[in-house]
Amino acid sequence: MSKKKFSVNGSFKDSVNTVKFLTERKQFINNAPAVLPTRTDDFGVNKVAASLHPKVQNLVISRIEEHSNIAKSYYFKSTAPIAYFKAGQYLTFRLEIGNSVVTRSYSIASSPASALNGEYQITVKRISDGFVSDYILDNWSVGDAVVAYAPEGNMTYNPLRDAENIVAIAGGSGITPFLSLARAIDQGDEDCSLTLLYGCRTSEEILFKSELDMLSEKNEKIKVVYVLSHSEEKGYEKGFVGADVIKKYAPEGDYSVFVCGPGGLYKFLETELPKLEKERKYIRFEVFSSGKKKEESKEYSITVINRGTESVIKADSNETVLCAFERAGIYVPARCHTGECGFCRSKLVSGMVYIPEGEDKRRVADMQFNFIHPCCCFPESDLVIRIN
Ligand code: FES
Repeated sequence: MSKKKFSVNGSFKDSVNTVKFLTERKQFINNAPAVLPTRTDDFGVNKVAASLHPKVQNLVISRIEEHSNIAKSYYFKSTAPIAYFKAGQYLTFRLEIGNSVVTRSYSIASSPASALNGEYQITVKRISDGFVSDYILDNWSVGDAVVAYAPEGNMTYNPLRDAENIVAIAGGSGITPFLSLARAIDQGDEDCSLTLLYGCRTSEEILFKSELDMLSEKNEKIKVVYVLSHSEEKGYEKGFVGADVIKKYAPEGDYSVFVCGPGGLYKFLETELPKLEKERKYIRFEVFSSGKKKEESKEYSITVINRGTESVIKADSNETVLCAFERAGIYVPARCHTGECGFCRSKLVSGMVYIPEGEDKRRVADMQFNFIHPCCCFPESDLVIRIN
């Protein structure tokens, strides 16, 4: 059907357009197939839904880029069309490491437009003793096949909820969703402005600096400020991204604050963000679980009840319960690893766990009935857990 234009007040032309529109619509209906598809998969709307939300995506590593020995970017292609995403979403990968089947999520660094060209980019940073990140950095090569689920995540710009100006606070590799957003703004796919406050320890740890500088020079909707905590250098702010730095660089008027980075960043901002006196809806977080308590480690046992069978595994007090499952080769569905999605939800039958502040995103009913999200719980005693 062709598009018709109608004026606000109504006119003779509108009446003519209405008659034409109704005639065309009738023809369109008459020309539609008389027999409906019998398989639900054959409905057009279901085909679109399946392409946007595939259960799994089989990808191949097409390129790897090193970032001064601290991180690597992986680029993926597929022979089939890949799922579209919004800047700020993440991909969850399913890996087999030894006898373990594990999942890990990484924010997508590429622009949404790149998905239309069949490519995703993620960036993985080395963390000391990282079970999965280290495996990826040491083992993934160009040409390897990997399995990922559809893009997910809520830290995306939504004009109905968020202010038009975004102040993004990134810590370390938490830069990737904001790189995606900056690219999307520059390509005209997002209609907001971005003030990026990027905190690193030293200037050597800044990822994607030349591209970020180029984007901010080229596009007036993108501003980038680097904040170094461990070194004083010309052209950089010194310290941490706290309320003072935010107020100094935030645009006039309303703005939303998006935060992405390690657990330590969340802890710091917990006392800083209230100083901005913003409504809660203007503050959005995506915090990676630190994965560690960084205390003297103790060993506990977890009795795992899985479809009626019981097994006993070891757990380190410094690692999440989900990590203990993965190391023992017990598969538990998981996506976000930040306590948000609820995919790993399990029943704590007995024992005590520690949940870092800000990472307890369970529903109230789940708290009451002792359900936990093992991706952000650390054992504090021997545990009994039912995983389904
Ligand atoms: S993986 Fe999302 S809540 Fe645990």
